[in-house]
Amino acid sequence: MAEIGTDIAKASQLLREGKLVGMPTETVYGLAGNALNPEAVTAIFETKKRPSFDPLIIHVGSLEQARSFIRFFPEELMALAESFWPGPLTLLLPKNDKIPDLVTSGLDTVAVRIPGHSLTRELLLNLDFPLAAPSANPFGYISPTRALHVQDQLGDKIPYILDGGDCTVGLESTIVGVEQGQVIVYRLGGIPVSAIEQVAGPVLILPQSSSNPKSPGMLKSHYAPKTPVLLGDLDTLVSEFSQRGENFGVLSFNKVFPEIPDARQVILSPSGDLGEAARNLFSGMRLLDKADVSVILAEELPEKDLGKAINDRLRRAAAK
Ligand code: TXA
Ligand code: MG
Repeated sequence: MAEIGTDIAKASQLLREGKLVGMPTETVYGLAGNALNPEAVTAIFETKKRPSFDPLIIHVGSLEQARSFIRFFPEELMALAESFWPGPLTLLLPKNDKIPDLVTSGLDTVAVRIPGHSLTRELLLNLDFPLAAPSANPFGYISPTRALHVQDQLGDKIPYILDGGDCTVGLESTIVGVEQGQVIVYRLGGIPVSAIEQVAGPVLILPQSSSNPKSPGMLKSHYAPKTPVLLGDLDTLVSEFSQRGENFGVLSFNKVFPEIPDARQVILSPSGDLGEAARNLFSGMRLLDKADVSVILAEELPEKDLGKAINDRLRRAAAK
């Protein structure tokens, strides 16, 4: 099992040796390795069982570090970096040849982000290389939002997990790029599209599908528990499955079902707050996935602000 702690010097040392470390960020925990070391990058793909056509995000501690790995900073994206970094925003930038092709799966852009977690920024500022870090879960499964989630799934494969507590955002970063002056959102995430548009003007949200080579990670079935997820009107679903006598779990936005045992229901935000719902989404899915249920009944949230990204994850979890 991995050691869990808050020792930045230890994490830095392991990373310098080419080892992988579980790393907290404000979005989700990452599986971090030296992005400039092809062996470390290969180990990331192997540890996650991630296909090599799905490129990685590099994490840096400062804008200056970001600049040293790209050919230029498109001005539309610079405005977003100034507004949202450090934070849950990943920008697709034209890579220079310091970044191995392995990291970007051969694409000529590299995904870059300055995470907004104090422990991790200190770690990054301590290192003279960027950290490639996908979410620290086996490919296709739910992203981890606390150190123990990483331990549960990858603990036997890595030496150390830096413990930064529960993730304060709970959804992956929003991924944004620009093509011929048009700003494009490739993945909905921790920064709502409405906030991006306030800075960058109207954006295009790229339809996400498994056949779209421009966003290879956006496979339809993703972020998915092992237990099947069924999305719909919760009242209808609950009464239907109760009548059948089935052992189901419930993932609700704010409604409580008094007849269902606590261990089988997760209420994302009793007060109906989308930020709180985002923070609780992945740990809630994990909890129900571990509970003794044959299906997880869930509902979509209001389709606004973070609700859009939450619904995106719920739909992917429900797609099999
Ligand atoms: O919040 C996050 O972004 C977390 C934390 C750890 O930073 N990381 C994360 O990484 O979610 P990952 O690997 O699970 O998702 C990265 C996504 C993938 O869908 C990948 O296809 C996309 O970013 N991506 C990476 N580089 C890209 C590129 N050059 N062009 C298009 N998409 C890219
Ligand atoms: Mg992921």
